[in-house]
Amino acid sequence: QMGGRGAGAPENSPLQIFVKAKKKINDIFVEIEDYVKDAVNYMHEIEKEQQILDEKSVRQAEEFVQKVHGIKDVLARDHMKVAFFGRTSNGKSSVINAMLRDKILPSGIGHTTNCFLQVEGSPSDEAYLVLEGSDQHCSVESVASLAHALCKEKLKESEMVRVYWPRNRCLLLRDDVVFVDSPGVDVTPNLDEWIDKHCLDADVFVLVANAESTLMVTEKNFFHKVSTKLSKPNIFILNNRWDASASEPEFLDQQCDEQAGVRKQHQERAVDFLVKELKVCTPDEARERIFFISAKEALLARLAEQGQSPTATLAEGFQSRYFEFQDFERKFEECISKSAVKTKFEQHSQRGKYIASELRDVLDRLYLDAQHLRDDKLLQRKELHDKVNYTEQQLMVITQEMKQKIHHMVEDVEQRVSKALSE
Ligand code: GTP
Ligand code: MG
Repeated sequence: QMGGRGAGAPENSPLQIFVKAKKKINDIFVEIEDYVKDAVNYMHEIEKEQQILDEKSVRQAEEFVQKVHGIKDVLARDHMKVAFFGRTSNGKSSVINAMLRDKILPSGIGHTTNCFLQVEGSPSDEAYLVLEGSDQHCSVESVASLAHALCKEKLKESEMVRVYWPRNRCLLLRDDVVFVDSPGVDVTPNLDEWIDKHCLDADVFVLVANAESTLMVTEKNFFHKVSTKLSKPNIFILNNRWDASASEPEFLDQQCDEQAGVRKQHQERAVDFLVKELKVCTPDEARERIFFISAKEALLARLAEQGQSPTATLAEGFQSRYFEFQDFERKFEECISKSAVKTKFEQHSQRGKYIASELRDVLDRLYLDAQHLRDDKLLQRKELHDKVNYTEQQLMVITQEMKQKIHHMVEDVEQRVSKALSE
C-alpha cells in the first residue's frame, strides 16, 4: 500500500502519545494555575482584614503564579527533536525530505548543507526562515529560494537557520516533530561545539550512513562524543543508498546472496557499534534501530503519489526498501514520542506536584493560624463572659445585702419613730 501514510491514520500515529500527553499536562497546568490564582486572591482579601497572614506566605504564593506561568510557556514550546548526522553526501537532507514528503531542504552532490538547518511547523502556515541571532522572517517559496537564501548569507557551519514550514503540509510537523539537518561530520573540527549547541536536547539521533561503504571513524567518533554528554542517547542507523547496491553489476547475477551478505556485514557492525562500543542498547533493541533504505527512492515515490513528479522508474527491490523506510518511520515515531514524553514532561509534572504541595502547606499553615486565632478569641470571650457573670453575681449579692440593710434600717427607723411618737 503506497498510497497511505506509512504510519497509518494520523490518530493511530505513535506521535499521538506525545501530542495527547502534551494536551493532558497542559490541561492540568491550567487547573493548577486556577487553583494558585484563587489561593492568591483569597490571601490578598484576608491580608487586608486579618493579622494572621505573614507577608512571606503571600509572596511565596505569588511566586507560584509566576512559576506555573513559566512552565506553561515552556510546555507550549515543547516538541520532539530529531537530529541527523553522517558524512557529507550520505543523504541526510534527502532522508529528511523523504520524511517530510517534499523537497524542502537542498540536497545534491558535493558538500551541500553548510550550516545547521532546523525545520519546524510554522505558526502561521507560511513558509519562512530565520537566521541565527535575528528575528527577521525571510519568506521562502521553494527549495530553490531556500538554497539561494542560504548561499547569500555567509554562515558559519555551526550556525543554525530555522526553517518554518506550513504544518498542514506534513503530519510530522503538525505533531510537533522538529528536524535538525547538519553539515557532514567529516567537514568540521568543531564537533564539541556542535554537540553543545545543537544536540543536548535532541530526543533521537539518526546516523545516516552510506550502505555502499562501511561506518567511518569520523561518524563513530561523533557518536562517542555524544554519548559522553548524554546518557543512553536514542540512535537509529540508516544504511542509505541501498538502491545503489541493487544495481551493482556483480549483484545483478546472484543478487540475493551477495546483497544479503553485505547486509549482514553492515548489520553486524552497526549492532556492535551500538551495543559494544556505545553501550546504548541491547542487541535486540539494536536490531530495531538499523534499517536499509533509499531516501532518494522514498522521496521520489512520495512525490509521484502526490502527483508532483512523473512516476519514476524504480530499481529492483524498490518495494521492500520502501517498506523498510516506512518501518523505520514507525519505529522512529514510537521512540521519539516516548522519549520526549519522558524527558520533557517528567520534569514538568514533578514541578507541578511540588507547587501543588507547597501551596497546600501554605494554606494548611494559614488554616492552622486561623484556628488558633479563633480559639484565642473564644477563650478571651469566655474569660470576659465569666468576668461579667461574676460581677453580675457580685452585684446581685451586694444589692441583696443592700436591700436587706436598707430594709433593716427602715424598720429600725420606723420602730424608733413610732416609739418616739408614743413616748
Ligand atoms: P551534505 O549536506 O553535503 O552533507 O549531504 P547530505 O548528507 O545532506 O546528502 P544529500 O541529501 O544532499 O544527498 C547527496 C546526493 O546523494 C544527492 O545527489 C542525492 O540525490 C543522492 N542520494 C541521497 N540518497 C540517496 C539514495 O538513497 N540513493 C541514491 N542513489 N542516491 C541518493
Ligand atoms: Mg545535506
